[in-house]
Amino acid sequence: MKLGFLASHNGSNMQAIIEACKTGALQATPAVVISNNAESGALARAKRESIPSYHLSSKTHPSPERLDRAILDALLAHQVDIVILAGYMKKLGELTLKRFEGAILNIHPALLPKFGGQGMYGIHVHEAVLAAGEHETGVTIHLVTEEYDSGAIIGQENVPVMPGDTPKSLQERVLKTEHAYFPKVLQKIESGEMAIPGYKMPTSQCPDR
Ligand code: GAR
Repeated sequence: MKLGFLASHNGSNMQAIIEACKTGALQATPAVVISNNAESGALARAKRESIPSYHLSSKTHPSPERLDRAILDALLAHQVDIVILAGYMKKLGELTLKRFEGAILNIHPALLPKFGGQGMYGIHVHEAVLAAGEHETGVTIHLVTEEYDSGAIIGQENVPVMPGDTPKSLQERVLKTEHAYFPKVLQKIESGEMAIPGYKMPTSQCPDR
């Protein structure tokens, strides 16, 4: 199972998945990393890990259609099976969404459908959770569609909100769960325990053969 990552910032979720691949907990290959941010931690991590990486953004491709094509070409050139949005703050273009329909996963730091949609990313999500007086938040992994945070949910893990939490302390607790949970979900997809519409296990690996 070849993984293509899109990440805008630190890339700690991507790193957690790479580590799971290295230990063998996840039987998958990180094949390519794409970032819209030339200075991102994600691109620096990719270089350290010797994973092919590309800065593709409106700076490198001012035309949205050409940017979409360039992202798709990079994913196809590295024979990606599953696309992982690991803190990717841009919308994907039509071509990429269509070619990888049902095989693009996003991680969101709250229990969708609560606290999702435009403007709900990173620390803003945790601020909104605290402002709403929630006692529980969590992590959601969902399929990606053309709307932010709107595709089918494939997994969720709860995280408690503690008295005295600040957005930062809550973010740290949720991020820890993200790092453990995302590789687990991918492992379930890889082993056939969980199905997503856009990925078919190679038949030689099917559990019932
Ligand atoms: C993660 O908390 C992820 O859930 C969030 O951005 C962070 C990226 O951290 N994504 C969103 O808010 C998407 N709406 P990372 O770059 O260290 O993995």
